[in-house]
Amino acid sequence: MIPKETIDKIFEAANIEDVVGDFVQLKKRGANMLGLCPFHNEKTPSFTVSPSKGIYKCFGCGEGGNSINFIMSHEHYSYPEALKYLAKKYNIEIQEEELTYKQIEESNEKESLYTISSFANNFFKQELLGKNGKKALKYLENRGYNEEIIKKFQIGYSPSGKDVFSSFAIKSSYKKNSLEKSGLSIKDGANVRDRFRDRIMFPIHSFSGRILGFGGRALSKENKVKYINSPESLIYQKNKILYGMFFAKKSIIKDDLCYIVEGYTDVISLSSRGVENVVSSSGTSLTENQIKLIRRFTKNITLLFDGDSAGIKASFRSIDMILSEGMNVNVVIFPDGEDPDSYSKKLKIEELKFFLEEKSSNFVDFKKQILKPENIKDPSKKAKIITDIVSSISLIPDYLTKMEYVKYCSNLLNIDEKNILLTIEERKNTVNRTAPLAAEKNSEKRKSDEPKNRLQKLELELLRILLNYGNENLLFDDEQISVASFIIDELEMDDIEMTSISYRKLYEEIRNRFRAISKIDVSFFINHSEKEITSTCIDLISNEYSISDNWHKRHKIFTEKESDKLKQTVIKAILSLKIQHLEQRIVMLQNKLKGGSVEKIDIEDLKNLLEIKREIYRKLGRSMV
Ligand code: CTP
Ligand code: MN
Repeated sequence: MIPKETIDKIFEAANIEDVVGDFVQLKKRGANMLGLCPFHNEKTPSFTVSPSKGIYKCFGCGEGGNSINFIMSHEHYSYPEALKYLAKKYNIEIQEEELTYKQIEESNEKESLYTISSFANNFFKQELLGKNGKKALKYLENRGYNEEIIKKFQIGYSPSGKDVFSSFAIKSSYKKNSLEKSGLSIKDGANVRDRFRDRIMFPIHSFSGRILGFGGRALSKENKVKYINSPESLIYQKNKILYGMFFAKKSIIKDDLCYIVEGYTDVISLSSRGVENVVSSSGTSLTENQIKLIRRFTKNITLLFDGDSAGIKASFRSIDMILSEGMNVNVVIFPDGEDPDSYSKKLKIEELKFFLEEKSSNFVDFKKQILKPENIKDPSKKAKIITDIVSSISLIPDYLTKMEYVKYCSNLLNIDEKNILLTIEERKNTVNRTAPLAAEKNSEKRKSDEPKNRLQKLELELLRILLNYGNENLLFDDEQISVASFIIDELEMDDIEMTSISYRKLYEEIRNRFRAISKIDVSFFINHSEKEITSTCIDLISNEYSISDNWHKRHKIFTEKESDKLKQTVIKAILSLKIQHLEQRIVMLQNKLKGGSVEKIDIEDLKNLLEIKREIYRKLGRSMV
C-alpha cells in the first residue's frame, strides 16, 4: 500500500507536459500542446495536452486522462506501477504504509512460497544437467528443444525417487509445512514426499517473471498421467495466469496480436520458431481474468487449435468471452493430428508465419466452417445454427464493429441484414429480461461518455454544468446560491438518482466532495483513483470547445456578460431531468391502470404527477423566454 500523502505528492509533482513529453513530441498551440497521438495511428495531430488542467485528450480516438492514466495506458502499467514510475521520475520516496499483522503474515507466507518455487526451479534445472537427468535431456533433444530454449523457459527435471527434492529442501532448512503449501511436496504420514517424480518440469511464471508453480510432464507414454500440475496456492491462481505471458508480452505489444494455444509445448515450440507472441491457458478453458490480462497489451487474439481437438466446441465459449470484452478474435485450425508444437517443426520459419496468417479466419467464418449450415436440410436446425452465429455478433459492444459483422454475415450466409438485426434485437430482449450480460455491463463501462437515452443525456448535461460552472453564483431574489449547491439540493429534494452507473458514481463523488469542502474541485475528480470517474470527468471538461484555444474567451463571455443565461441553462437542465423522471412514473401508472389493477391511490398519484408536470412546464416556459 502506498500511503495517501505520497500519492498526493506524486500527483502534485507530475507535470503532464513533462510526463507525456517523454513519449510524444509536443508543440505549443495557444494555451495547449499538440502532438501525434501515441494510442492510434494518425498523420495530423489531434492529441491535445492541457497543462493548466493537467490532462491529455485525443480528439481522434477519444483516449484521455491525467498523468497517471497516461503512464498506465502507454506503458501498460497497473495503478501502483504507474505511481512508482512517476515517483521515480520525480525523486519521491515511496514508503509503503505499515501493514497489519495479518497482512505481514500473508506477505511473509507469499514471499516464502516465491522463495521455495525459485529454489525448486534451480534444483530441477541442475538435475536436468546432472547424471539423473540424462534421459530427460535426451527426451527434450528428441523433441527438438535446444539449449537456448531450455534455458529461456527454465525447463528442469524432477528425479524419480520418492522424496529427492523434499529431503534436499528440508536439509536446506525449508519447513515441511511451507513445502506442502507450495504444492511441491505432499504430506506422507509424519513426513513429506515429492509431488513431481521423474518428470520434465515447466515452471509457470508471473507477469514479472517470478515462479508461481509448475507443470510436470511424464517422460514416457506408459505413464498414465501425462501432466501433473501444481495445485492452487497463495501465489498460484490458475484463472489469473497464462503460461508464457512473461516471455510473450513484448512481442504481443509489438505485433499487436496474441496467439492462444492449448499446451506448454505449443508455447515453447512456437516461441523457438520465432513466433513469440504466444501464451497458453494450459489445458483449462479460458477465463475472463485471462482475457483481461491480454487486453492490457492488445485487442487482437487468435486461437490456435489441433485439427482433432475436443476443445473446438469449448472454443465457442472462449470466442464469446473475447467478443464480450470488446476484442477481436480469429481462429486457426491445424491439420488433422497436428498441434502447434508438432506442426511448427515441419515448417520452415517463414512458412510457419505464412501458415498462421493464411489460415487465420474470423469467428464467423470459423463457426460456419464448423457448423456447416449449408449441409443441413432441416430448416429449424439451420435457423438454430444461424442464431448461434448471430448471437456471437450480438455480444460485440462496439456498434460500428457489430454492424460490420452483420453486413459480413449477411453476405456469407445469404440472409437479409434486417433479419440479422431483428434476431439481435430479440436476443437482447430475452437476455435483458434475465440477467445483464457481461458484454452489456462492459459496454456501459467503456462507453461511459455516450448517453444511451434522453434521461442519460440530461444527466450528462447536469454533470457537465456541475463540473464547469459549479462554483459560479446564481442570484435568486436577493440570495446568492452557487450552481453546485442549487443542483445538489434540487436533486436531493426530489430524491433523484442518476440512472447510468458511471454517471451516478461521478455524481455521488461530486456531491460528497462538495459537502466536505463546499466547492467543486475539478482536479480532485481528474486525479481520482477510479478510472471510471476520471474518464467521465475528463470527457465532460474537455469537449472540443472547452479545451480549444478560445475556450477561455468563451468561458469569460459566458460567465460575465451572460450570467443570466447560466441561470436559465441550470434551471432548464434540472427541470428537464425532473420532467423525464415524472414522465416515466406517469407512463408506469398509466400502464398499470390499463392493465385493470386500478386502485384509488394510483389515480390520485397520477393526478398529482400530471399537475406537477404542468407546473414544471409553466416554470420552464417562463424561465426560458
Ligand atoms: N494437460 C494437463 N493435464 C493432462 C493433460 C493435459 O494439465 N493430463 C494440459 C497441459 O497444460 C497440456 C495441455 O493441457 O499442455 C494440452 O494437452 P495435450 O494437448 O494433451 O498436451 P501437449 O501440450 O500437446 O503436450 P505434449 O506435446 O507434451 O504431448
Ligand atoms: Mn503436443
